Amino acid sequence: MTEIVSGADIISDVISAVHGSAMVITDSNVARLYPQLTENAFVIPAGERSKNKDVLFDILSEMSHRNVRRGDAVTAVGGGVVGDITGLAAALYMRGIDFINVPTTLLSMVDSGIGGKTAVNHCGIKNLIGAFKPPLRTVISYAFLETLDDREWLCGTGELIKTCLLTENAFERLNLKLDGLIKHDRNDVYDLIETCIDIKSRVVRADPTELRLRKILNVGHTVAHALESINGDKFTHGEYVLKGMLTECAMFKDMIDPEYYARMIGIFKMFTDPPRTSSKFVCDVAAHDKKNVDNDIRLMIPTNKGEVSEISVTNDAFISRYESALKELKRV
Ligand code: GLY
Repeated sequence: MTEIVSGADIISDVISAVHGSAMVITDSNVARLYPQLTENAFVIPAGERSKNKDVLFDILSEMSHRNVRRGDAVTAVGGGVVGDITGLAAALYMRGIDFINVPTTLLSMVDSGIGGKTAVNHCGIKNLIGAFKPPLRTVISYAFLETLDDREWLCGTGELIKTCLLTENAFERLNLKLDGLIKHDRNDVYDLIETCIDIKSRVVRADPTELRLRKILNVGHTVAHALESINGDKFTHGEYVLKGMLTECAMFKDMIDPEYYARMIGIFKMFTDPPRTSSKFVCDVAAHDKKNVDNDIRLMIPTNKGEVSEISVTNDAFISRYESALKELKRV
């Protein structure tokens, strides 16, 4: 099980994670912002485009050149892309070595840095090649938030809001701290990150390989992944998650408690607009989603505070609900 250390003042834990490992992997943004911390790191180009097999094999080759041994650990210092690809390299190298994750973005602090999903994209499909490889340690230092730009804040906000839909307490906390989240008030944001770390680590502890409970973390993600596959880096992953949650909730409005629906839609609309991608394109991609087990499309819908239901629809029903949702969202 992963040991998670988090806080605003844990620089010594970050330094030990870096110095205690055989190789540090980071990206060009983090290397520019934190040159001392990443002095001897292997640097990959920043962005989703690095999440591919070639960069994965570059990391594996570098591990071999640096003589990384089976008993060693490697450390990822970066956002979701760095964590995902380093984790997968650690899972593959010599059939598996330890890895330590130091998430530097809001998104990786609340979501991808916890739970051991590692992957690269392939054949145009997000996270097609991957493994469950929980980090030995995740060190979440809020100090990294100081250098995030607005786009990265919005990106992390998408996954943070998603996690706060998973329990009644977290949803009420989100409502209390929404203003602080919008203004990036440090205390409110730290409190919400702690809430997300707690929820996500409990979910992955109960179901590490997504056989049952962990599926609730896919709220908004069926539409989000389809939009992301179609539109690429026009938006960040978290922005697609916001659009996905907005659209999926409107698609299944009839299954959601009315008061809860109004509150959720109000929150999503503070951060995003409905998608503009046509129903046919979204449906074609959603029909190939990894979450589907038969010919139907599966979605995780938050139906009431702290309640998420798995819903399965045919392609025709998906298209008709998606089109009605876009009309509904023009009205509200
Ligand atoms: N990001 C969803 C999960 O970790 O399961």
